[in-house]
Amino acid sequence: MISLLKKLTETASPSGYESGIREVIRAEIKSLSTNIKVDALGSLIVTMGKKTDKGLRIMVAAHMDEIGVIVSHVEKSGLVRFSNLGTLFPQYLPGSRVVFLNGVHGVINHDLPDDLHKVVTQDKQFIDVGASSDKDCPVKIGDVGVFDRSFVELGKRVTAKSLDDRVSCAVMIESMKKIKNSPHELVFVFSTQEEVQSKGATTAAYEIEPDLAIALDVTPSLDIYGIKMQVDLGKGPAIKVRDVGMLSDPRLVRWMEETANKNKIPYQLEVLDLGTTDAKVMQISKAGMPTGALSIPCRYVHSPSEVVDLDDVQGTVDLLSALLNNPIFLK
Ligand code: CO
Ligand code: ZN
Repeated sequence: MISLLKKLTETASPSGYESGIREVIRAEIKSLSTNIKVDALGSLIVTMGKKTDKGLRIMVAAHMDEIGVIVSHVEKSGLVRFSNLGTLFPQYLPGSRVVFLNGVHGVINHDLPDDLHKVVTQDKQFIDVGASSDKDCPVKIGDVGVFDRSFVELGKRVTAKSLDDRVSCAVMIESMKKIKNSPHELVFVFSTQEEVQSKGATTAAYEIEPDLAIALDVTPSLDIYGIKMQVDLGKGPAIKVRDVGMLSDPRLVRWMEETANKNKIPYQLEVLDLGTTDAKVMQISKAGMPTGALSIPCRYVHSPSEVVDLDDVQGTVDLLSALLNNPIFLK
């Protein structure tokens, strides 16, 4: 798991530019299925098993894109102004390094503020790529980059960029390896462009027409921005009850809780007042479907150094594979 997480989080693939991470993931899963395809928006869709009268067609989605920066303007001085791909928090940026997909490195800093102790808004920040003028600047408008940060172990926790949502990609890969005699047709989607409103999961769900859907994503584990939410690191996967974009189907919440209890997997319940996941768009695809989500508690979400606990990661693998390996009776 450690080496897989390192490989996945050290790959640079912001929203809309997922080809790099897609090939890394494809290499990990190609022996698990003969039915692997890439759809028009770039999602990697892996089908295992066939739908029988004892089973359902289940779509499981984890997004493979990550937040990033996009060049919006190059100044005469060579400093680069930028916009966001997905949600960037301005306080996490100054001092961070970024790497563009063309290999150019840069450091983020900002114009001199009136008050040095206040957070500087993103429009007053820039990326310094070492250029001395716009003529020799190695990036141009539209070039994209991601945080430049290596994967590090912190005791039984780990820190990296893009654990949102590469940790769920790792969970999905490990769960796929544990699928045995499932009565279901399982369609695993490594989706694109989640950070820019779940574009990949939208088109994938439309094409797949599942009977039931589960999203895998991280959820913030601290009281952030004054929002009180009781999900802690190390206390197990969170079964989503609701977030800003979706109310989970209560029958799925019950099914997930019962399965966790039966398998003695510690879990938490999540009510989130900030953000949403691919589950939002799957739930209302076409005529709609029962939808739920499993969340991996994560600190400092959307910062260059996100943190997750490996017990939670393993717990999510155990719970997801227990859910998918057995017949489902929703009640
Ligand atoms: Co995110
Ligand atoms: Zn996410």
